[in-house]
Amino acid sequence: MTEPFTVAIDGPAAAGKGTIGRAIAARFGFAHLDTGLLYRVVGAATLRGVPAIQAAQAVKREALEDPALRTPEVAQAASQVAVIPEVRAALLDFQRAFARRAGGAVLDGRDIGTVICPQAEVQLFVTASAEVRAERRHKELADKNIDTNLQDVLADVKARDARDTDRAAAPLKPSTKAHILDTSDIPVDAAIAKAIELVQHAFQFD
Ligand code: DC
Repeated sequence: MTEPFTVAIDGPAAAGKGTIGRAIAARFGFAHLDTGLLYRVVGAATLRGVPAIQAAQAVKREALEDPALRTPEVAQAASQVAVIPEVRAALLDFQRAFARRAGGAVLDGRDIGTVICPQAEVQLFVTASAEVRAERRHKELADKNIDTNLQDVLADVKARDARDTDRAAAPLKPSTKAHILDTSDIPVDAAIAKAIELVQHAFQFD
């Protein structure tokens, strides 16, 4: 496929966006971008004392690979820099170009369907209760030998939900075109199957 075809996946922290995004990308041969990593690179830079806007203007593709971006401290810093309109503006062109690249793209984040790519052919809003998301994130961190307790992870998830939802610039919310996928009570495989079905359907009618 040489035409652009975009799958936008938005939703709160640890809802399963990344897992679903990677599965769609693998199934259809699309490129995948976890846009949270862009904000994490900027957040991590601020923890080293670099001003946020300056860091956002200097983000390099290779920086997204750094495993140190996965810590809860960096997640909070990312959510803090994400409220700054100039930071969001500096990251916009890269995301838009990625979304409309030839061959198809999946982007997951908070504002893909609402701001980055409202024309995305498929839009998903993946969500789950804060408790279920905290349990999943806690297990993920434990699997990576990052030491946390469940109550701290739940507090972190709730703090980020509130900041990401209440900010003025590109707040977290479903786009009007989004299919809502609540993964609280369904296994990840079932959520992936549903997402793949929606993409397949859009492909047929595109
Ligand atoms: O998806 P994540 O947990 O890695 O994202 C980290 C933070 O980055 C999140 O709390 C808010 C911000 N973010 C954003 O504002 N817009 C996006 N498209 C992606 C992430």
